[in-house]
Amino acid sequence: MSLQAPVFCYIVVMHHFLPTGQSLVIRTPELDEAGALMHCLQQMTRESDFLLHTPEEALGMDISGERDFIKSYRDQPQHLLLVAVVDGFIVGYLTVTQGRFYKQMHSGEMGIAILRNYWNLGIGRRLMTTMVRWAEEHPTIEIVHFQVFAHNEKAIQLYRNFNFQECGRLPGAIRQKDGRRIDLITMYKNVK
Ligand SMILES: CC(C)(COP(=O)(O)OP(=O)(O)OC[C@H]1O[C@@H](n2cnc3c(N)ncnc32)[C@H](O)[C@@H]1OP(=O)(O)O)[C@@H](O)C(=O)NCCC(=O)NCCS
Repeated sequence: MSLQAPVFCYIVVMHHFLPTGQSLVIRTPELDEAGALMHCLQQMTRESDFLLHTPEEALGMDISGERDFIKSYRDQPQHLLLVAVVDGFIVGYLTVTQGRFYKQMHSGEMGIAILRNYWNLGIGRRLMTTMVRWAEEHPTIEIVHFQVFAHNEKAIQLYRNFNFQECGRLPGAIRQKDGRRIDLITMYKNVK
């Protein structure tokens, strides 16, 4: 049996309109959007405690690192990096990273975040819809999974809407800056 992953080419460009009338495009980012993506990620860490990076850690990002990040997804189409672009500005992203080792290549780990000003407009739902279609077409990924902070009710509801199921909980796995310990829930979906 070959250990090489099959070549996969899936081009994503989705156009929508938000309830506000603004245009939403879901697509892969260009290398010259590294600065915009970095600023978006940094702002997200200031706006939400549901992400792993602290704002201070996010300040350690730089444009060249972000460019490498985008390039690594462009060069390896077995992974997915999507941005949500509203009226020309990056306001959200979604990643799926395929398992690195042969024994994990049938699974992909997902991450998603959107800038606070753009919450509750259906952008998360549209990113998830695009991701699920991509995963269904993927030659090897059969399972999409991730971990979510246990009190992130909105995100968990979004995932349940797509039939993701909870399959485990790591008690106290997250320590917030104020000392609070929060459980991490693992969720997954079989996409084939
Ligand atoms: C979680 C997140 C990605 C959702 O994105 P969004 O664009 O606001 O989501 P949508 O507008 O598509 O709404 C998704 C669903 O959330 C649910 N929802 C909205 N508000 C809710 C609330 N207060 N409580 C529970 N569920 C809620 C609804 O079911 C909605 O789906 P529906 O309107 O189609 O029924 C976004 O809030 C975010 O980036 N949060 C901060 C970062 C984060 O938590 N990332 C996930 C880490 S695992």
